[in-house]
Amino acid sequence: MHAWWFHESFSIDQDALSLDGVPLRWLAQEHGTPLFVYSRATIQRQLQALQAALATAADDFAIYYAMKANRFSGVLDAVRSVPGVCVDTCSPREIGYALQNGFALSQISFNAGMLSASDLATVAQTGVHCTLDSYSGLRRYGSLVPKGTPVTLRFNPGVRVGYGQGANLRYGNDKFGFEADEIEEALRVAFDAGLSVDGIHMHLGWGLQEDSVELVEDAFARLAYIASCVPDLRVINVGGGLGGRYHVTDHPLALSTWASLIRKHLAPFGATIACEPGTFVVGPAGLLLLEVNTVEKRRGVQWVGVNAGFALNPMPALYGVPVQIVPVHAPLTPPEQTYRVVGHINETTDVWSKECALPALQEMDLLALLPAGAYCTSMSSDHCLRGQAKEIVV
Ligand SMILES: Cc1ncc(COP(=O)(O)O)c(C=O)c1O
Repeated sequence: MHAWWFHESFSIDQDALSLDGVPLRWLAQEHGTPLFVYSRATIQRQLQALQAALATAADDFAIYYAMKANRFSGVLDAVRSVPGVCVDTCSPREIGYALQNGFALSQISFNAGMLSASDLATVAQTGVHCTLDSYSGLRRYGSLVPKGTPVTLRFNPGVRVGYGQGANLRYGNDKFGFEADEIEEALRVAFDAGLSVDGIHMHLGWGLQEDSVELVEDAFARLAYIASCVPDLRVINVGGGLGGRYHVTDHPLALSTWASLIRKHLAPFGATIACEPGTFVVGPAGLLLLEVNTVEKRRGVQWVGVNAGFALNPMPALYGVPVQIVPVHAPLTPPEQTYRVVGHINETTDVWSKECALPALQEMDLLALLPAGAYCTSMSSDHCLRGQAKEIVV
């Protein structure tokens, strides 16, 4: 019997945790900590699972890995190793980075809002396929590209769905996209700007859970209505949003449920079904290896200090997304004590876990924090000059 967070790439060798057969304590000895460790096999498995699910939903599909989730070159290489997988970018520098990392122009999409004149000029110059979500963007982009250049239009999902109770992981009714009932106007403005519209797009939120299935269906039905208004539609893009488990009680939206909603509402249009997964692909592939530096009781709390904080993974402090904390030695030992695990950033918000049941810890113990594949280094900061960590792929 293994713990809920244990997946196919984990094993326990000589009573310590390994990833894809590589003992984490060796990696800590060789590279030091903090250290991000990513599993190439997990990235490949996740992409293959997605391909298999999409194959049940549509005759033609395309996966654009959202590189904003993790742009480490070893991760991009693992993504590129799965035939047919493309990459989605959201800034001119990401386009350059995708090219540098071996993706061809035809394998790169671009999707961002609030674009400056220089952003649009760079995107126009590269010629990548662009998703736009404002009248301003359509008018200005149209003036920069050859007549008839195809674009995708992004729409507001109209529902608020995403992980946990916080508002910030829900993209609906916020700054993104046209309203469904603006479709005719958006098509007209695109046409007047000299653009053609070959795709429609909707991104719902981060870490979709099973209990929001009805709202997800509502959004896909809205996307189907939009699709019915677009002549010569080639692509329907459902964005990202598929997640994993962050807590023992989580029930992420199942891949099969997501695929069946696509089959029901969107496949009948015969367009390519595209998606932009980030977290689903890399989230479970990564962990952050840390060292305990302080174990001490203070004001009735048993504190554990570690050698990294929110500068390396802002998800708990910024979005309230939990991380699982696992001792590298004897990872499946039953908990003995409740700790508050905190980082080394000089902020009270630098808390990995307020109440974490763990076996008894000692200074110098190694801990693995997981999942840590998505939105950690890509969103890291150098606050307190503490944002440095090595990344490796096993
Ligand atoms: C437009 C768009 N597509 C895709 C993604 C990737 O989402 P996820 O990591 O939830 O799969 C995001 C994330 O913010 C996004 O904004």
